[in-house]
Formats: sequence, structure tokens, C-alpha cells
Amino acid sequence: MNRPVTDTRLNFQLDEHGGLRHFLSIDGLDREMLVRIMDTAEPFAGVVADQPVKKLPLLRGKTIVNLFFENSTRTLTTFELAAKRLSADVLNVNIATSATAKGEKLLDTIRNIQAMHVDMFVIRHSESGAAEFIARHVEPHVSVINAGDGRHSHPTQAMLDAFTIRKHKPAFERLRIAIVGDILHSRVARSQILAFNTLGVKEIRVIGPRTLLPVDAESLGVRVYHSMDDGLQDVDVIVMLRLQKERMRGAMLPSELEYFNCFGLTRERLRFARQDVMVMHPGPINRGVEIESGVADGKPSVILQQVSYGIAIRMAIMTMAMHSKSRHQGEA
Ligand code: CP
Repeated sequence: MNRPVTDTRLNFQLDEHGGLRHFLSIDGLDREMLVRIMDTAEPFAGVVADQPVKKLPLLRGKTIVNLFFENSTRTLTTFELAAKRLSADVLNVNIATSATAKGEKLLDTIRNIQAMHVDMFVIRHSESGAAEFIARHVEPHVSVINAGDGRHSHPTQAMLDAFTIRKHKPAFERLRIAIVGDILHSRVARSQILAFNTLGVKEIRVIGPRTLLPVDAESLGVRVYHSMDDGLQDVDVIVMLRLQKERMRGAMLPSELEYFNCFGLTRERLRFARQDVMVMHPGPINRGVEIESGVADGKPSVILQQVSYGIAIRMAIMTMAMHSKSRHQGEA
């Protein structure tokens, strides 16, 4: 399988010692780094999550600002919980009531909040490249974490997905993973494909109608299918995606019912996959559009585990970015 070309511009997310300075994209990160993130998340998902007092002092005294220019339920709340569990001071800026609504430019907003002695920004934005743009303009001690930019990248989602898979099926090199649906508009799919390839997954398939797949999909390092019956044969993991209508220009499908009939995940279709298949979805799910309720709530579904593990993965990434070697030296 082809390994997609790496975007070396994004290597600046690492510091001079190879530690995380920002977390903007899976692109530019090697297998060792992805494994290190998951290993760091392990105790946060286990011991810490089960404690009556789920607090650690790792980011005490640090100030983290969540700046979400797009809607979110899972990512925003798990980033907030992750920061609080690490004892950071965390602030969610309400964009609807902020000065952005009065026309303030993005960098002016960032510079003003940065002046409040902020250590980390967590950014979600509808423009691809927004988090990287901000990362290139913040002060050296400030980290930027990408919480989803346009259709480009959602790297913490890809990491929590890889972590969830590893919990159940740790041998990535033996896995066949199918990603189903609106690949074209999906930052999650793009980041997952990069992460799964970097982790050595045996085979990654994308399944969807031609209108919802990139024309050069194979160049991402995947096999392309337009039929669920063929694409789901013997897969170990199925990742369902929603139709991202907010990023579609014009009608790309005859109807949602037609889409469900062709590409919806039903109990009937699960029979094509391996018996112990895991069903995943980054959320939000649209029942009866891309997934049948019985599957979303059924035994093979790990959809809610993904949400829980999102806290541990985000704790790991924030801790690593704040504790990179150069930062310690800078603070010494
Ligand atoms: N998976 C995900 O990004 O969900 P939210 O849009 O709710 O954050």
C-alpha cells in the first residue's frame, strides 16, 4: 500500500529535540510519536479515570484557552475535561458573544488572549490551515492544538480512534479497516488514514459513492470500494462517517434514504465483516442516514468508548506539548 507523501512544512510542530511543541496534524509525525502519545494516554484512561478524584497536578499553573469557531459537543467538552483533570486553568471563549462578532481579525483575537498569559490554545475553525496559521504567529512558549480545521485535519480524533482500536485489537499490522461514507469532506478520515498508515495497518479501505470520494483517493494509501458488500468483506474495524452537509456545495446525493439503502450500516451488512468487528463513529451520528440504531447501540459498537478515550488522549497530548524538553530547559 502507498504511504502518502508527508508534508514536511508541518515538522515545525516538533521542537528541536523531537518533542511535541504543537499538535496540528498527523502529517510529519512518525510511528514512535503516535505510539508515545497512546502510551502516555494509558494511565489517564485507566487509573486516573477510575479514581474518585480524577485530578493530577501535571498542568497546574498553566492556562489553556479553547477557541472554537465551529460547533462541537465531544471535542470541546473532552478538551475542557482533560485540561481540568490536569489541574490547568481552562477558559472556553464564546465566539458568538466575543469581539469576533464585531469583525475583529483572527490574529488580533489571538494576540489579545495571548496577552492574558496563555500557555495553550485549542483551536477549531472552518478554514483548513487555521490552526497552523495561528501556531506560526504565537509566542514561543505557547502551544497550539488543532481541534479540527475545515476538511483538512482532526488529529486528536484520529489518535483517540487509534487508541480505541489498540485497546481491543493491538496488532495494527493484522487489521483491515474500512472507512465508510463522506470521505471527500472528512478531516477525520484524512487524519485517520495518515495515522493508520503510520501505525502499519495492513489494509485501509474507503467505501462510498463516487461523489463523496476524492478523485485521487488511492494516493492517500487506501483501497477504494463503491459497494458495502464488497468493501466490508472480512474487515476488523468499520468507521462510519456522517454526511458533512455543511461542507457540501450543491446536491451530491439523490436522497438520504437512497444513501442509507446503498451505504448505511445495518445488522444485515455487518455479516460481511469479521465476527468480532468493531463499529466506530467520530460523532455526531445520524441514525437512519449512515447507521442503523441497532448497530450504533449494539454490541460491536465502541462509539461511546471513543468519547471516553478522547479525554485520555487529549490529556496525553496537552501534557506532552507542555512538558517538552525545551520548555523545561526554558523554565529552568
Ligand atoms: N468528533 C467530533 O469532532 O465531534 P464534535 O464535532 O462534537 O466535537
